[in-house]
Amino acid sequence: MEREAVLVGIDVGTSKVCALIGEVSRDGRLTVIGHGTVTSSGLKKGVVVNIDQTVRSIGEAVERAERLSGWKIDRAFVNVGGQHVESLISKGQVAVTAHHREVTREDINRAIEVAQAVSIPSNRQQLHVERRGFIVDGQEGVKDPLGMSALRLEVETLIVTASASAVQNLFKCVAAAGVKIDDPVVSSLASAEAVLNDTEKDLGVAVADIGAGTVDLAMFDEGAPFYTGVLPVGGNNVTNDIAIGLKTSLAVAEQLKIQHGTCDLRGVDVDDDISVSVLGEEAGRTVNRLEVCQIAEARMREIFELIATELRTAGSGMLPAGLILTGGGAQMAGVAELGRDVLQIPVRVAGPIGVIGLTDTITTPAFSTAIGLLRWGAMNVVGDEPGRYETAPAGGILGRIRDALRSFFP
Ligand SMILES: Nc1ncnc2c1ncn2[C@@H]1O[C@H](COP(=O)(O)OP(=O)(O)OP(=O)(O)O)[C@@H](O)[C@H]1O
Ligand SMILES: [Mg+2]
Repeated sequence: MEREAVLVGIDVGTSKVCALIGEVSRDGRLTVIGHGTVTSSGLKKGVVVNIDQTVRSIGEAVERAERLSGWKIDRAFVNVGGQHVESLISKGQVAVTAHHREVTREDINRAIEVAQAVSIPSNRQQLHVERRGFIVDGQEGVKDPLGMSALRLEVETLIVTASASAVQNLFKCVAAAGVKIDDPVVSSLASAEAVLNDTEKDLGVAVADIGAGTVDLAMFDEGAPFYTGVLPVGGNNVTNDIAIGLKTSLAVAEQLKIQHGTCDLRGVDVDDDISVSVLGEEAGRTVNRLEVCQIAEARMREIFELIATELRTAGSGMLPAGLILTGGGAQMAGVAELGRDVLQIPVRVAGPIGVIGLTDTITTPAFSTAIGLLRWGAMNVVGDEPGRYETAPAGGILGRIRDALRSFFP
C-alpha cells in the first residue's frame, strides 16, 4: 500500500477517550495502526467539566496509541459533543460572474460565504458548513455546478454551531495533552461517516450514536446531512435507573445491565434470579432479571421517544434507509426491536464499516466516532494537500528532525 498520510482521531467521550492512528492510502483506504482507549472522568454529557481529569485521559490514550504504533502524535481530528451543538439550514445566492456566465470556483465560494454569513451569537462558534447541493438558475439538485452556464447560483448548506466556551475548554484539554487540532468534528457527523454508506445517505437515513451521556443524531438525504442534534441522555441513565430501582451500586448496576439487560422482555423469565456478588457487601444477594430488564426497557423506550420527537422536528419525512444505531449503548440486546416498535421505521445496529487493521478491538459500535474522525481526516487529505498530515515515527531520525523543525517553526 502506498501511504498518503498518517492521521489521528481522538474521541473524547463521556465514558472513554479513544485515540486512533490511521494510515490512508492513495486510493483512500484506511488502516488503523495505533489504538489507545482509557476511561474518562472529566466529562458530563459530552462536555468537559474537569480540565485536569480530561487532560490526563487524553494524554494516556495518546500515549498508548503511540506505544502501539511507534508513531508520535503531533495533531489530531477531535470530536465535539454535548447538547450545546446545534444545526441550521442556510442558503446563499450570488449572480454568476458577468463576462463568463459560467460557474467558477470563485462563484461557488462566494455563494457559500453568503450562506455562511448568517448571524451567530458571539457565544457560539461555527463548526461546519456542509454543502448540501446547488440550485442553478432555479434547477434544484445540482451536486457540482462548476463549469455550468448560469446567471444565478444558489447553495444550500447545513451549518453546525456549538457553544464557544465548551469548544474552548475541549481545545484547552487537547492542547494541554500536547496535541494540536487538525479540525474539530461534531460527534454525530463523525459517527455517520463510520457507519453509513453512500446509498443510505442518498436515500435518506438517520444515525443515532447512543453513548454514555448523550445521543448524537444526524440525518441525511440526497447524499448530505440536513440535521444534527444531541440529546442529553444515554447509557448512564439506564445504569442509574437500575442502581436506584434495585438499590445497588453503580458498578453493580452497570454489570447487571451489560451482562443481563435486554430491551426485549418477551424472552425474559419471571423467575430468573441473578446472584449479585461483585462487591463484598452485596455478597449473597439476588436480584430479579425481569426487573433489571423492565427498568432498562423503560428508559430505552423513553430515549427512542425522544429520538422520534427529534426526527419529527427535523422534518425527516420518510427516511427510506431507516435509523442506524451505533455507540456503546446500542449494544444492548433487543435495542433494534424496541426502536422499530417505537419509531415504526427500519432500525438496525451497526459498528464502523470497512475498517482494516486492529479489527478485533475497534469494530464494535462504541468506536464509530473515533473511526469516523479518521475517515473525516482521510476525506480531507486524499487529493487535497498530500503530506500535510504526515507525522513522524517516534524516535526515528526523521522523527527527530521533524520534531526539531516543529520547535523551530511552531
Ligand atoms: N453490552 C452493552 N449493553 C448495554 N449497554 C452497553 C453495553 N456495552 C456498553 N454499554 C454502554 O455504552 C455506554 C458507553 O458508550 P460509548 O463508549 O459509546 O460512550 P461515550 O462515547 O463515552 O459517551 P458519549 O458519546 O455520550 O460522550 C455506557 O453507558 C455503557 O454502559
Ligand atoms: Mg460517544
